[in-house]
Amino acid sequence: MVSDKIHLPAARSLPSPRRFFERQRRLVRTHAFRLAALYFLVFAASVLGVLCFVYWTSADFVERQTEATIDTDITGLAEQYAQRGLSGLVQIVAARSAGDSGEAMLYLVTDPDGRPLAGNISGWPLGVPAGNGWLSFTVEVRVQRKPVSHPARGSMIIMPGGYRLLVGRDISDAAAFRDRVKLTLLWSGMVALGVGLLGGAAMSRNLLRRVELVNRTSERVMAGNLSDRVPLDGTGDEFDLLAVNLNRMLDQIERLMTAMREVTDDVAHDLKTPLSRLRARLELALIEPGDAGAQSEAIRVAIDEADRLLVTFNALLRIAEAEAGAVVDMAAPFDLAEVARAAVELYEPVAEEKGFVLTLTAEPQVDIRGDRHLLSQALANLLDNAIKYADGGALEVRVFRADARAVLEVADHGPGIPQNNREIVFDRFVRLEPSRSTPGNGLGLSLVRAVVHRHLGTIALADNHPGLRARLEFPMSCV
Ligand SMILES: Nc1ncnc2c1ncn2[C@@H]1O[C@H](COP(=O)(O)OP(=O)(O)OP(=O)(O)O)[C@@H](O)[C@H]1O
Ligand SMILES: [Mg+2]
Repeated sequence: MVSDKIHLPAARSLPSPRRFFERQRRLVRTHAFRLAALYFLVFAASVLGVLCFVYWTSADFVERQTEATIDTDITGLAEQYAQRGLSGLVQIVAARSAGDSGEAMLYLVTDPDGRPLAGNISGWPLGVPAGNGWLSFTVEVRVQRKPVSHPARGSMIIMPGGYRLLVGRDISDAAAFRDRVKLTLLWSGMVALGVGLLGGAAMSRNLLRRVELVNRTSERVMAGNLSDRVPLDGTGDEFDLLAVNLNRMLDQIERLMTAMREVTDDVAHDLKTPLSRLRARLELALIEPGDAGAQSEAIRVAIDEADRLLVTFNALLRIAEAEAGAVVDMAAPFDLAEVARAAVELYEPVAEEKGFVLTLTAEPQVDIRGDRHLLSQALANLLDNAIKYADGGALEVRVFRADARAVLEVADHGPGIPQNNREIVFDRFVRLEPSRSTPGNGLGLSLVRAVVHRHLGTIALADNHPGLRARLEFPMSCV
């Protein structure tokens, strides 16, 4: 894959002319350029087609006009011949030839051998065979006293008696018009070609630049710089959308990597000490001679320690799982109140035993999308904390809707958590000073936060005057 990447900046190290050609060569090889070139070819072909059509119709129109004029003229003259005979015709032709109609009409009446009798052409045009119909020929015209050949178009008829009548028209103007149109077409074609090529190059260059930004970012990320992101243009076009999605993907990867690193760090730091302690205890039991009772006591203590380690390990794994899992916004919806009811039922006996009055206030149908099991675990951790750290009294669980959000609250009347500690208690292994004597790992709230984030929710700890009020908010399920 790496080999067919477009990589314009590599050309920077080459000397300038080679660098330029190298860049052009790469540009031409890109998909963007080929696409632009294809569009340009289609565009150029259609422009050329339209121009040719315009040329052809205008040239044809002029030619038809000329022929129509000639046709009317020659028909009139033929009638004159029929009515007034040769002398009448010669008279009219001589008169028309003498007058300058300004339309460059050409006339010639000859005898059956082609000798001119009247007209403004000196003789029968060279190489033109005599016969009825249309003909093209050249006439000599004097321009500033110099003879110049002009193209002409004419029609001739052989009249009774073998006399020939030729009526034509100097079409040098029409030919000049045609040449001009041809030249204009050529120029406009060339300009369109140039503009199209430049436009195509600019377009593909721009596309390339955007692709290149993505390429460079992915290279840097692959090289280990996980926090690099694709810059946005701010135009909101599809490239920006692509960049936003790629950046989101990189965010997710970075988040997962960080979570993984944190777990491995935590395992390394916080499980190493108890494991070493366990090992030392077992070693001591092995080398210290003692009675069977002392040995089994040592083994029992070691088993307890190993159990605690397993609990910590499982808690860490659950947090990692909750953090690393996909966001559950597309999962099936469920009623938060039902989850709360089940948890309250589960904790009621132990709460009662410890002198709590556990109550549940729940609005019906507070539906959210997600993993019901994870949510139950989070709620269980909150109830567990309340029972562990508060000293009896009212313990309230509330489920309700607020501002189109589903809210779950757990409020106790214990010592609460001071304002300045309300953020750090979510970190792994954090236990506040007064709670150190109670059993625990400092992982319960970390799991709660991981579960809440996975459900696109928020968690806030507040003062319950006195006590702690944990408030979890989730987006409502619309279905
Ligand atoms: N309801 C509460 N009232 C007072 N302090 C609390 C309450 N909940 C949590 N805390 C404080 O926050 C700390 C972190 O709580 P967390 O649930 O993460 O860990 P833990 O309860 O100590 O251990 P674990 O939950 O892993 O058994 C606790 O050690 C305690 O100091
Ligand atoms: Mg806890």
